[in-house]
Amino acid sequence: MNSENKIYFYPVWLRIWHGINALGILVLIFTGINMQYATPGFKLMDFELAVNLHNIAGILVSANYLIFVFGNLRTSNHKFYRIKLKGLYKRLRLQVEYYTTGLFRNQDAPFPLSEKRKFNPMQKVSYLLVMYLFVPGLVITGLGLLFPELIIENVYQVSGIFLTAVLHASLGFLVSIFLIVHLYVASIGKHPINNFKSILNGYHDLNGH
Ligand code: HEM
Repeated sequence: MNSENKIYFYPVWLRIWHGINALGILVLIFTGINMQYATPGFKLMDFELAVNLHNIAGILVSANYLIFVFGNLRTSNHKFYRIKLKGLYKRLRLQVEYYTTGLFRNQDAPFPLSEKRKFNPMQKVSYLLVMYLFVPGLVITGLGLLFPELIIENVYQVSGIFLTAVLHASLGFLVSIFLIVHLYVASIGKHPINNFKSILNGYHDLNGH
């Protein structure tokens, strides 16, 4: 921590990963919606273009995911993702109570950030779910749809490609919901743009929270 009460939470590799991931996923959501809901009457962009952009962004986000995994393996950032199951429900309840009532009564956050704590319990659980379940699930099902010869032909007489597509779209929907909540939660603080500045310059301002 330096004299101005700032903590260097987001090293360069993490910011590069996050920037590519955020832009890539925005492209995937936009092009994905175009493909999912394409009808002769509904067309935000050319279908072929949406497919090509979706494939390119998908490959980029998948390769970029390796930066997240290896970056966490090789640095101490993974420490912030460690979760203790004992008492987790109580900690989550405290955080939900804070977001739904305490925050609006100007109460202090139940889990203030420090050099040892970068995430509150809700962030920890949602980041773990998204980064180690939803995103890898999207990468695997996406690769399956890109190379359908890899997919089992039928599962109990239901097409394997159909099941993979349903799983892929469902996970995409969950990541889209995560993104909306993520942006809202990131805007909470003394000033709504403080956290957005942090993910760009690397420093979390304790005075600004
Ligand atoms: C426009 C898009 C996005 C913006 C503006 C944004 C903004 C932010 C901000 C401000 C933070 C730092 C504060 C915090 O930890 O909450 C952050 C961290 C994080 N974001 Fe995002 N985000 C975006 C998209 C995404 C997406 C699509 C994902 C995952 C699919 C994601 C996953 C994460 C993770 C895992 C962290 C914590 C990284 C770490 O410190 O280890 N973000 N984001």
